[in-house]
Amino acid sequence: MNKAKFITFEGVDGAGKSTHLSWFVETLRSRGIDVLLTREPGGTPLGESLREILLHQPMHAETEALLMFAARREHVERVIKPALARGTWVISDRFSDASFAYQGGGRGVLVGKLEQLEQWTHGELQPDLTLLFDIPVEVARQRLSNNQSLDRFEQEQADFFEKVRQAYLDRRTKYPQRFALIDAAQSLEQVKASLETVIQALLP
Ligand code: TMP
Repeated sequence: MNKAKFITFEGVDGAGKSTHLSWFVETLRSRGIDVLLTREPGGTPLGESLREILLHQPMHAETEALLMFAARREHVERVIKPALARGTWVISDRFSDASFAYQGGGRGVLVGKLEQLEQWTHGELQPDLTLLFDIPVEVARQRLSNNQSLDRFEQEQADFFEKVRQAYLDRRTKYPQRFALIDAAQSLEQVKASLETVIQALLP
């Protein structure tokens, strides 16, 4: 049996990653792969409670980082590792790269502190593949403007998202083997074609 893969989806709010995520998962399932779709912050009962707080309650940037990693620790131990151990692929809508992008890039939490938390939380586990949906910030914000109820992150200004986007691109420069960059400004069909290429490369 081939080793189960751990794949993460990342990008600024409004990049359209959630739409593509469902298609990606359904396509893998249609090819006989057992897939668990999960998300961060969230993915466990405790993680979902922390998500509510994180998305709606004002807090210090470092508190935000600590809560993101606390939710992640629970997620890794109770959901991600057990699934991978039984041969189920795990697709997570965001993981630690989001903390480096949002808390690190966006909020200015020191990268060294985030690296310590990352090491503590999942030192031995990294995604096999991270799909980074990259899009100019103006386009992403245009897409978000149709959304009626924006959370605490989505309400941030353009300069915040410019920093988030840049921090994501920096992660990709640091870990080029793990990242696949998807141009999310393309049409839905073009993005699907890029994802189809990714899937072909993943399947035995
Ligand atoms: P979502 O809207 O993609 O589900 O993500 C929820 C928000 O949480 C999104 O604006 C990004 C933010 N986030 C962080 O700031 N840090 C993190 O570590 C994660 C996982 C998400």
